[in-house]
Order: sequence, then structure tokens, then C-alpha cells
Amino acid sequence: MKSWLVTGGAGFIGANFVRLAAEERDARLVVLDALTYAGNVRSIADLIDAGRITFVKGDICDETLVGELLRRYAIDTVVHFAAESHVDRSILGPRPFIRTNVEGTCVLLEEARRAWQGATSGKRFLHVSTDEVYGSLEADEPAFTESSQYKPSSPYSASKAAADHLARAWSHTFGLPVVVSNCSNNYGPLQFPEKLVPLMILNAIDGRELPVYGDGQQVRDWLHVEDHCRALLVLLERGGAGQTYVVGGECERTNLDIVRMICREVDRLCGRPDGDSEKLIRYVTDRPGHDRRYAMNPAKLKRETGWSPRHTVEAALPAVTAWYFQNRAWADDIRTGEYLEYYARQYGSR
Ligand code: NAD
Ligand code: TYD
Repeated sequence: MKSWLVTGGAGFIGANFVRLAAEERDARLVVLDALTYAGNVRSIADLIDAGRITFVKGDICDETLVGELLRRYAIDTVVHFAAESHVDRSILGPRPFIRTNVEGTCVLLEEARRAWQGATSGKRFLHVSTDEVYGSLEADEPAFTESSQYKPSSPYSASKAAADHLARAWSHTFGLPVVVSNCSNNYGPLQFPEKLVPLMILNAIDGRELPVYGDGQQVRDWLHVEDHCRALLVLLERGGAGQTYVVGGECERTNLDIVRMICREVDRLCGRPDGDSEKLIRYVTDRPGHDRRYAMNPAKLKRETGWSPRHTVEAALPAVTAWYFQNRAWADDIRTGEYLEYYARQYGSR
């Protein structure tokens, strides 16, 4: 049986990935997560309780712990999600981004190299990264590909770019079997409500203002988290060592389009008159250095693995909006900080 270490598995994409992998793959799953503000153990608590996954609260920067886990569980696959992930936070305080995203990735690469000692057959280190490393596109430029130039513009994207370079260097220099994936903006269940989609859904439901940065005409390439997680599962099986893959939803939309779609869905779900929630939209001061447009061309991934996105944002947003509506307890815990206590109450410290 394969043995996977999933870092950041209590975060948004990590938890969705762990849930899908637990259902569809036979592998032993060990989750390593520090449970920062963005980590919510409730997102995977049922799997922990059922003994389907092993959860370890810990920091990827702790090299002793990482080395011990790799050896104790005979890990042959590392899926690395753990990161500081929010651009606005990186503008307010960049240091934790350098620590976790750069130093933490370095610790994982180095400990995997030590544990595997050149015996790399059947081993994989999947480094999960972002389209933001490529910088911003003009309206008429083609979508990013694996050979696009790195031009990160925020502290977040610069830290992820540094981590990507480290991952490729460990592959090139030490022969570590690394696969790098760079994906576009994810949306779906279990996302921390500081990101656009869950923030707008929850604010609209509560009748709170919907803060649109600048003119709202920035474009993102929206990728349903399930499509992303399926791409990662496929890459673990078929991605070439030393290769990079771009993952995108082929679904470019402006922020304002997304917010208006959400408003329509919330009106419908809450039985409000059409157009009611849109009145909550407020145009607020733009994010400093705000990237105008991201778009990904996943042709290589599609060609080599047969993957393609199953969701469009128009078709998927009703179910995603309904998920936040129906899972108020999950969202309320986050807003009150209640979830931070959950781990201590349920599992004690390990
Ligand atoms: P998230 O912020 O929801 O979750 C991050 C998780 O990492 C949390 O559970 C947190 O507790 C954990 N973590 C943070 N620092 C840690 C540390 N030092 N040690 C151990 N665990 C730590 O992030 P996400 O949206 O799920 O993103 C996951 C990965 O995907 C990140 O690497 C991010 O850069 C990348 N990515 C995300 C998106 C997106 O749209 N969300 C897009 C492209 C790439
Ligand atoms: P976000 O979800 O933070 O993802 P990223 O910055 O990684 O793309 O933001 C998505 C887009 O939505 C981005 O252009 C910024 C914008 N945005 C707003 O207009 N208002 C908000 O309150 C937030 C959080 C984001």
C-alpha cells in the first residue's frame, strides 16, 4: 500500500483532496497541518474519527518532526499544500509567507531527499503552487503555459515562486522526483471565508456589504476544487518526474461577474426579490499591486493525462452557494474562532 504525507490537509484544497483521496484511493493518508487560522480540523474530523486518516498537528518547518514522519510511516508520496495562501495578508505581513512557503518547502524537500536517499523508484513529491507566480496578463495576451516567465508581483506569489524554484532545483540537482503543479483560483466547499467566493456568499446571506476591489474588472480563471484535486490525483499517477503542469478551469470571469452570480443565487436561496443582494455591492479601495488578469492553458495536462475540467462556474456556483448556506455551523465556527478550540477538545495534544 502506498503511504502519502499530505501537508496542509486541514486547509481548503488539502481537505478536499484528502476527502477525495480517502474515497477513491487505497493509500495510507497522513496529514501534517499546523492548524493556523486557515486550518480547520473539522473539515476532516470524520475521517480522523473513523481511523481512515492519521492527523498530526505540526509545523512543516520542524525538520525533526518531518523526518520522523517520513520514516515512521514509510512515506513514498508527499503532496505539499501547506502554505500561507492569502494575498491581502501577505501585503499586511509578509514574514510568515517566507517562513512557511519558502523555508517550510525547503525542509520538506531536504527531509524527503534524506529519507529516500536516492532510492526514488515509486516515490513522488508533488508541490502544489499557483498561477500567480507568472504575474499579470493583459486582456489580449494568451493564457500562461508551463514555459511562461516567472514574474511574481505580491509577497505571496514571490514566496510561492521561490518555493517552486527550490522544488525544481532539488529535482535537477539531487534527482528528487518532484512534480510541480501551478493552478488557478479554486472555489468550492470548505474555503476559508477571506477569499472572494465564500466571503461574498456569507456576506450576502447575512445582508452585509460586498467589498469589490477597484472596478471589479479583474479576471481570474475559476477552477472548481474537485477538478483541481482530480488533476492532482492524476498527476501523482501519470505526471513525469521533474515536470511542471499548469492546471486551469478554462473559465475566465471578472470578479464582478462572480459577485453578481453569487448575488442571484443568494436571492434565490433566501427567497429575496431579484436584485436585492446586488444592492450590497460596494466598490472599495483597490488592493495595492493588484494583478489584473490570470489565465491558464492546461493543454499539456490534458494531452498527457486525459484530464479536463468538469465544472463551469455558472453550473457549479448554485451548489457551492447552497453548501455555505447549509453549512452555517462550519462557517460560524470560523468567524467566532470556535474551530480553533475543536482540536484541543476532541483530540487533546499529540
Ligand atoms: P489554505 O490557506 O486554505 O490552507 C493552508 C493550510 O496549510 C492550512 O490548513 C494551514 O493550517 C496549513 N499551514 C500553514 N502553515 C503551515 C505550517 N507552517 N506547517 C503546517 N501546516 C501549515 O490554503 P489553500 O487555499 O488550501 O491552498 C493550498 C495550496 O494551494 C497552497 O500551497 C496555495 O499556495 C496553493 N494554491 C491555492 C489556490 C487557491 O485558489 N486557494 C490557488 C493556487 C494555488
Ligand atoms: P482572492 O480570493 O483573494 O484570490 P487571489 O487574490 O489569490 O486571486 O481574490 C480574488 C479576486 O477578488 C482578486 O482579484 C481580489 C478580489 N477581491 C475583491 O474584490 N474583494 C474581496 O473582498 C476579496 C477577498 C477579493
